[in-house]
Amino acid sequence: MVTTHHHQTTHFSLPKKQFLTYAFYALVPLALLHYLLFSPLAEPKPAALVREAAATVVPSQPGHAPANAHEQLPPPPPPDQGREGVLGETQAGEVSATASPPPCDYSEGEWVPDARPPLYNGTSCGTIKDGQNCMAHGRPDTGYLHWRWRPRGCDLPAFSPDAFLRWLRNRHLAFVGDSLARNQGESLLCLLASRSRPDLVYRDGEESKFRRWVFRDHNATVSIFWSPLLVKVAEKAELAGVRHNNVFLDAFDERWMSQLGALDAVVLSVGHWFLIPGIYHDGGEVVGCHDCADLNRTETAFFGVFKEIVHRTLAEVTRRYGNDRKVVAFTTFSPAHFEGDWDKAGACPKKEPYKDGEKELGYTEMEMRKTVVEVVAAAASSAGAGPLRFATLDVTKLANLRPDGHPGPYMRNDPFAGGMDARVQNDCVHWCMPGPIDTFNEMLLQTISG
Ligand SMILES: *[C@@H]1O[C@H](CO)[C@@H](O)[C@H](O)[C@H]1NC(C)=O
Ligand SMILES: *[C@@H]1O[C@H](CO)[C@@H](O)[C@H](O)[C@H]1NC(C)=O
Ligand SMILES: *[C@@H]1O[C@H](CO)[C@@H](O)[C@H](O)[C@H]1NC(C)=O
Repeated sequence: MVTTHHHQTTHFSLPKKQFLTYAFYALVPLALLHYLLFSPLAEPKPAALVREAAATVVPSQPGHAPANAHEQLPPPPPPDQGREGVLGETQAGEVSATASPPPCDYSEGEWVPDARPPLYNGTSCGTIKDGQNCMAHGRPDTGYLHWRWRPRGCDLPAFSPDAFLRWLRNRHLAFVGDSLARNQGESLLCLLASRSRPDLVYRDGEESKFRRWVFRDHNATVSIFWSPLLVKVAEKAELAGVRHNNVFLDAFDERWMSQLGALDAVVLSVGHWFLIPGIYHDGGEVVGCHDCADLNRTETAFFGVFKEIVHRTLAEVTRRYGNDRKVVAFTTFSPAHFEGDWDKAGACPKKEPYKDGEKELGYTEMEMRKTVVEVVAAAASSAGAGPLRFATLDVTKLANLRPDGHPGPYMRNDPFAGGMDARVQNDCVHWCMPGPIDTFNEMLLQTISG
């Protein structure tokens, strides 16, 4: 009942077009990305990052990536809609992958004005990471709080804390991935906290990369697991001169994989870390390297590595847990929105969403999204109508239309205390809370309860 796929790991060469697109995408944001992704607590930026930024500078937009500002930027997002294997839709016990009508497709649509206030704010929720607490940090405009996503062909119901908590009663849901997984997990905690108080019952790891909360009223548990590449990685250490992640394609990250048996639902969210320099290992050999000129190695596209890792991970989940009733949702890539100088006011200055069609998806975002959509669909199809369900939270397009939803300079408190010309770090990758990322969890609610 589980289809085994054969993987190849030797097709990771990098077509020119991809490289150019990647280089373009990566120019500035990448240096920032490193910082935000790796040093969420904002330490002085290591010199190595500066070097990288300088090395990749291409004359795209003037003023990018000065050789020593602080950098920071973060990571990625999710997929779409799950299918309900057994509930209702099919007739007379006829179960086939095509028997159910297609679920609502939330991925295409537009942002429309919404007068309702968010369910929480910068002071009412205790689990907003400092860097995403735009309100508390003095972001003056509030228009970005008043939009709702209207899918093209159906309706996305507003988030219902009661409905979510009802589903979560006696259950355990985990977010697994990079800092965007954390961002989404913290958004969910705030949404639920508008109805019931979460107690932090566990925290571990540098910067609390592993945490767990319980809503005691509901015996409902939410966890966040740090696993920015899903598989095992020896994270780079800039200060020690190690600029690359060493990524092991054939070693699952047991810190979360081994816990999955006790989880009822998991949201996977990774992507941005694949853009940073990496050395890829498989079967005891180096099979590829991304951003490796200094190592005298041929460049490898990270797209193929990403696909391979997503595929192997979902196949392993199916192998181990194929007979368990659980939902595995995968959030698709969440685009960043750098436009101005990344270390000054105006790095992501927009105050409103883009209109439908106003902003095309970049090549990298498109590829990263497509991989998740395709691989999750394949996993869902091999799981068939069994108890293990796979779903995509396809947020790439809706996120792409929200240049106004990032903290920008308000990742720090009162960023312009030193004047509007001051150098400030900008986060145009993560999402303000409250903000557009709350919509990811509206989709999650429909997915798990659908
Ligand atoms: C935040 O929410 C709390 C609780 O709902 C409310 O008392 C407070 O006035 C709100 N603060 C702001 C700045 O809106
Ligand atoms: C509480 O929830 C956990 C799942 O997180 C479950 O294993 C346990 O059985 C629940 N307790 C009760 C009393 O139902
Ligand atoms: C880089 O690799 C090429 C081909 O393997 C080799 O000829 C060359 O000497 C290497 N350069 C350095 C600096 O190691």
